[in-house]
Amino acid sequence: MAQTDSIETILKEKRTFAPPETFSKQAHLNNLEEYEILWEQSQKDPVSFWEKAADEIHWFKRWDKPFVWNEPHAQWFVGAKTNAAYNCLDRHLKNGRGNKLALIWEGEDGQIVQWTYQELHQRVCRLANGLESKLQLKAGDTAAIYMPLVPEAVVVMLACARIGVVHSVIFAGFSSPSVRDRVLDAECKAVFTSDIGYRRGQVLELKKTIDEAVAGLSCVKHTVVLQRRSKTKMVGRDVDYDDLCENQPSSHAAKELDAEHPLYFLYTSGTTGKPKGIVHTTGGYLVGVTKTAKLIFDLKDKDVFWCTADIGWVTGHSYVVYGILSNGMTSVIYEGALNYPHPGRIWEIIDRHQVSIIYTAPTAIRSFMRSGDEHPQKYKLDSLRLLGTVGEPINPEAWMWYYNLVGKGRCPIVDTWWQTETGSILISPLPGVTALKPGSATRPFFGIVAEVVNEKGQACAPNEGGYLVIKHPWPAMLRTIHRDPDRFKQQYWSRFKGMYFTGDGAHMDENGYFWIKGRIDDVINVSGHRLGTMEIESALVSHPSVAEAAVVGRPDTLKGQGIVAFVIPRETAGTDGIEELGNVLKSHVVKEIGSLARPDEILFTKALPKTRSGKIMRRLLKDIAAGKEVSGDTTTLENPGLLDIIKPN
Ligand code: WTA
Repeated sequence: MAQTDSIETILKEKRTFAPPETFSKQAHLNNLEEYEILWEQSQKDPVSFWEKAADEIHWFKRWDKPFVWNEPHAQWFVGAKTNAAYNCLDRHLKNGRGNKLALIWEGEDGQIVQWTYQELHQRVCRLANGLESKLQLKAGDTAAIYMPLVPEAVVVMLACARIGVVHSVIFAGFSSPSVRDRVLDAECKAVFTSDIGYRRGQVLELKKTIDEAVAGLSCVKHTVVLQRRSKTKMVGRDVDYDDLCENQPSSHAAKELDAEHPLYFLYTSGTTGKPKGIVHTTGGYLVGVTKTAKLIFDLKDKDVFWCTADIGWVTGHSYVVYGILSNGMTSVIYEGALNYPHPGRIWEIIDRHQVSIIYTAPTAIRSFMRSGDEHPQKYKLDSLRLLGTVGEPINPEAWMWYYNLVGKGRCPIVDTWWQTETGSILISPLPGVTALKPGSATRPFFGIVAEVVNEKGQACAPNEGGYLVIKHPWPAMLRTIHRDPDRFKQQYWSRFKGMYFTGDGAHMDENGYFWIKGRIDDVINVSGHRLGTMEIESALVSHPSVAEAAVVGRPDTLKGQGIVAFVIPRETAGTDGIEELGNVLKSHVVKEIGSLARPDEILFTKALPKTRSGKIMRRLLKDIAAGKEVSGDTTTLENPGLLDIIKPN
């Protein structure tokens, strides 16, 4: 349960930044009065707004009903037929964008690949044909994608979408047990991988991880391998990616799919030990990401758009692939670390490819800030016209740095709030009309009815902290949790009647601007990546030396939150090797989940503070982890001695 002190805030940030005139002039939306009218209408009648937005994509057959609601189950564009890959590719060939660049890829070693819409279309068609004819994949099958950020990964996503295979992209930093859980939960028939990936000059052996992950899983019929290093002979269920595409026709009739046909599953952390498979659909999702991308990023035909997220996260799905390609934009992808091999790598890439819109995470901005102003100053950055952030609250200091050092005061910043579950951005400035306040995601998008409510579900007063909820369904929202509809209902729709519960704390100021504070549940946000504390706890207790574990987040100036684990070792562990055990356990978590879940600190203790009903008092642990005085009521503690930390000898 949330603590009021963590969501109550005092509004300190008073600066506002009107849209620069040069930007406003050319923006899709630049008339504040018109915007207000449209916004008010969309609040009263979200369905009409979205129905109109739906005209911007291609439908093989139009819908019978725009929206059907059986709480908590929404359906959008019922009876309509469409295809996500068709909208991202074929539509643009028909509109004369065939020779326009769809993808610009840069490898960490500087290698560059550029594909036009026509080339991307051909590659997607060849693979789609191969998947159907050689692997007998068909609409409704599921496939996992465990690949580095290479252009072929985008081809695989679109080829699946083209034939109606539901893809589940698994971030290539997850370790084999995590991959295995996800492949099994989705009963994937095929798994796409690559022999290796590159990061910070290191080679990642992805195929090895996949082999471990799928060993003995009978649902997996094929492992498709993109061989980047060298060609080796494929054995067993392995299939070479190039062989699969070879001699396949470069055209393919995209499958006409129901609007509600699932486009993908994406596993994300929640409040239990098991990640949940968020289900997104084809039609509503595509309408949501297409419309938000166009207006929030003010997309124009000449833009070069770079979202630095990996396709393993929802940001990569919505604003590297689907929302960007459906708008016919040029999308930049980069396989590697943004500050490797030198701290200015990100700025160098912007100049080289003349990026006009950059979309990145606050944690990355803070790390660039830390490495020094001289790095962005060495580059021109004059191609930029708009900056975006996502993933966590941005602190005003980082916001100002981004605005001045990167945008040179010329580029608006769109601080976009959304979630894996929401599919598309829900709260964000519209850069041609919205006056910005550093640290605020400003106002809900058209058709998004957001509110901050108290424990009872009543609207909070301005500046009063509470829970962020969405009061009307929207097209790109998740439809369910794969194989767990009860959890879907429980998690999002049972807290407040008729409202989607986001799990975030927030307040709204006197101008109707939203200030998002972050998670109020047991989910922590490390460098913009969501991790469930329970997930890490399960990993820790799976080690034979651990009797009990409790994991909490603590504020971290770089990563947003850091991970602190309180561990009760088994008797046998003794105190002698306690420091070493700490390191062993850190590696164990990396082995079980992946390096993104590595605890920053492990504190060994003989007992954990618990309530009389046996619930761990996380609030106390959070205070201790943050080095704060333990605050609040401790009278309900079973063991008021608090923590008995075991110090290394
Ligand atoms: C947080 C990422 C403040 C929030 C798209 C949310 C943010 C979680 C912002 C979702 C923002 C995301 N300001 N907080 N602009 N954007 N968050 O599912 O806590 O990886 O619930 O989706 O990130 O993370 P997820």
